[in-house]
Amino acid sequence: MSGAQRHPLTIALPKGRLHDRIHELFARCGLAFEFESRKLVAEDREGSVRLMLVKNSDVPVYVNHGIAGLGVCGDDVLYESGFDYFRLMTLPFGSTRMCLAGRRDHDPQQDHGRLKVATKFTRFAHDFFHQRGIPVEVIKLGGSVELAPLLGLAPYIVDLVETGSTLTANDLVVNEELTQIQVHLISNPAYYKFHYAQVNALVRRLQNQDPQGDADEPTAG
Ligand code: PRP
Repeated sequence: MSGAQRHPLTIALPKGRLHDRIHELFARCGLAFEFESRKLVAEDREGSVRLMLVKNSDVPVYVNHGIAGLGVCGDDVLYESGFDYFRLMTLPFGSTRMCLAGRRDHDPQQDHGRLKVATKFTRFAHDFFHQRGIPVEVIKLGGSVELAPLLGLAPYIVDLVETGSTLTANDLVVNEELTQIQVHLISNPAYYKFHYAQVNALVRRLQNQDPQGDADEPTAG
């Protein structure tokens, strides 16, 4: 990619636990970047990519509005956003499970055929159980959802489980794995159409960690 002669591709990156892995991947592809102290925008040295560091759930918002043409985002956040996007590649890290979990000592007979769940992922929880014909009441929380069963807000949570240590620490267990969650490089569809050659070159570079590989055809979200 001859980034120096072109405008850099704009990419929204999520703050938090994925950040170090994304940084490593880009660095291995020759796209090392550093966010200077407290700054939220950075460019790699060759000027191929401009990175914006945003809250995880805001990545699809920036991409949908075209402020960032591309973004790195999990299926969980993408599903909640409801926006259209192209999925360009799945990243080789960040996989988790979306699970129904509850107290170890909860008796399902107390549910009387109706689930009450607390979650950050309300759209997913509604759709998942409605599609299976299971009546559900969904209570939206902003975080620390593991507290809900402990304090009696709801007997169940729908949440991401990676190592399972947060559940274990709070004496909760997985009742059912609902879906796998992966992390993707996504694109604003219009941005992809205008910049497809440059975007495909970036995808090849990230997929193969050399500039010769082929990108997958993008799939609509
Ligand atoms: C997620 C999730 C759980 C935790 C699970 O929270 O909501 O709380 O990770 O991880 P584990 O299975 O490895 O213990 P996250 O740290 O993303 O932050 P949040 O509380 O803001 O959702």
